[in-house]
Amino acid sequence: MSRVFLAGAGPGNPDLLTVRALRLLQISTVILHDSLVSEEILALANPAAQLIDVGKRCGRHSATQDEICALLVQEALASDGIVLRLKGGDPMIFGRATEEMQALEAAGIAYEIVPGITAALAASASLKRSLTQRLVSRAVHFVAGHAADGSIPGHDFAALAQKGGTLAVYMGAQSFGGFAAHLVEGGLDPATPALAIENVSRPDERIINSTAGSLPGALREAGEGPVLILVGDALAKRHPASLLAEAFA
Ligand SMILES: C[S@@+](CC[C@H](N)C(=O)[O-])C[C@H]1O[C@@H](n2cnc3c(N)ncnc32)[C@H](O)[C@@H]1O
Repeated sequence: MSRVFLAGAGPGNPDLLTVRALRLLQISTVILHDSLVSEEILALANPAAQLIDVGKRCGRHSATQDEICALLVQEALASDGIVLRLKGGDPMIFGRATEEMQALEAAGIAYEIVPGITAALAASASLKRSLTQRLVSRAVHFVAGHAADGSIPGHDFAALAQKGGTLAVYMGAQSFGGFAAHLVEGGLDPATPALAIENVSRPDERIINSTAGSLPGALREAGEGPVLILVGDALAKRHPASLLAEAFA
C-alpha cells in the first residue's frame, strides 16, 4: 500500500517550502494539490509524478471536499508509491485536513502530516511587523473571514475586538466590510492599523496599508490573488508613546 502525506506548501515562494515537503515533492508518485500551490513549487515535483489539480480555492470549488477525500483514498489504495496531498500554507490551518484525515482513517490508510508556513506568518515576515509585541499584543487569533455559506461567521466580535491582540483574518477579502463593522460594534477603534497582503511571498505580492475603518474601501485595489488581513496595534510601524502608556496603565 502507498504512504500518504498531507503536507503544507507554504505561501507560494518555493524558498518557503520545508525541506521535508521538498523531499516529498521529489519522490512522490501521485500529487494532489489545490490551487493555492504555486506553479514554481509544482515545477519541483518528481517529473514522473502524476499531478492532480483538485483546484479548490475559497468560494470557487472545482471539486467538493467529499470528492477530494474520495479521490485521495482512491489514489492511496491504487498506488504503492508515495501519495502527496499538497495544500497551500499549513494543512492544519483552514485546510480541511480533518475531513481528509478522517477519510484516510476510515479506509485504514496510514498518513503523516507535514507542516507548512501559514499565510499569517509569511505576511508578518514580509511586513517586518511582529504579530506579538511586548506590552501591545499578547495573543494572535487566526480567524475565518467568511462562513461556509459566504456570510460573516458568528465570532464573538467583542472578544476579538479587545485590545492586546492581533487578528489574522483568512478568506476575508470579500466580506471584510461587514467583518470590520462587527469589530467596530464590538469596541474596536476604527483607527486600529489593518493591512491586507495579497499573494504573500510571491513576485506579485501587494500590501495595502490601512486602518480597520478604511480597509474595506481600500480592498477594492486588491486583485484576484489570495489576501490575508492583519488587524491590531502591533502592526503600527511605530508605537506612539500613548499606546505604551495605555498598556502600562
Ligand atoms: C482556505 S485558506 C488556506 C490557508 C492555508 N492553509 C494557510 O495556512 O495559509 C485560504 C486563505 O489563506 C490565505 N492565504 C493563503 N495563501 C496566501 C498567500 N500567499 N497570500 C495571502 N493570503 C494567503 C488567504 O486569506 C486565503 O483566502
